[in-house]
Amino acid sequence: MPRIPLEDNFNDVINKTQRGMKMTDDDLAKRAEVSLEDLAAVKGGKPIDAVLRRVARHLKLSPDALENLAYKRWYPDLPDFPKGFAAFNTPFEDMTVNSYLIWDPRAKVAAAFDTGATSEAMLDIIKAEGLTLRYIFITHTHDDHIADLARLASETGAEVWSSELEPVNHPGAKVFKENAHFHVGSLSVKTLYTFGHSPGQTTFFVTGLSWPLAVVGDSLFASSMGGSPTNFADQLRNNREKILTLPRDTVLACGHGPLTTLAQEKQHNPFFAR
Ligand SMILES: [Fe+2]
Repeated sequence: MPRIPLEDNFNDVINKTQRGMKMTDDDLAKRAEVSLEDLAAVKGGKPIDAVLRRVARHLKLSPDALENLAYKRWYPDLPDFPKGFAAFNTPFEDMTVNSYLIWDPRAKVAAAFDTGATSEAMLDIIKAEGLTLRYIFITHTHDDHIADLARLASETGAEVWSSELEPVNHPGAKVFKENAHFHVGSLSVKTLYTFGHSPGQTTFFVTGLSWPLAVVGDSLFASSMGGSPTNFADQLRNNREKILTLPRDTVLACGHGPLTTLAQEKQHNPFFAR
């Protein structure tokens, strides 16, 4: 897969957090002791170091991580998956979206996470590896993530599953609760509710591959997290409680942007770095 840019710039992170915390510019400028002009410049993408660091502190973001993001000093080291895992990055309108496939190479059974804009490349791998697609798991039902669901489901006959809190509009689709377990050959998949970005946004924790894997959808991105002006606090809390507590070597497969790992996000994500 080609190098995918990070999903958010440092000013996206600031804007997202400020909206989420429902803080006005006046309020933030006053608390951080910066001028409204400087705040506007930083929010517009100009990294004025002193301002950026003050603003970060008052938004409970890591100043160092935010500064590294502003100067593009960090990009995740991509984990190596020798077998049983594939990532797809497909263009959707003016952005790109990710979808993923896992499989047990011996049992030849597979599961998909979302479809992205098109599942063509995923279908190619399913065919080339001689796999049976058992499940299509939906992280959340925003259009970009399920754009090719009808086709992927009809061409493979796989069961479609999404959260009871966010049922997918697809004939015969099934819903799971939190902590549901699925088996895909020797792999197992457990559901974690990481809502906020959407009401039923789910993280799927997969074991049995080379690394523990969390397919997080838009809960969290490398160096950022999913936005929701209304449910920001829920997203932050769920990320902290349910994703950040997974094993440190867990690979995070995000709905947008590159793959990353929990250990790297603990060090480089402005929301979670200390
Ligand atoms: Fe998305």
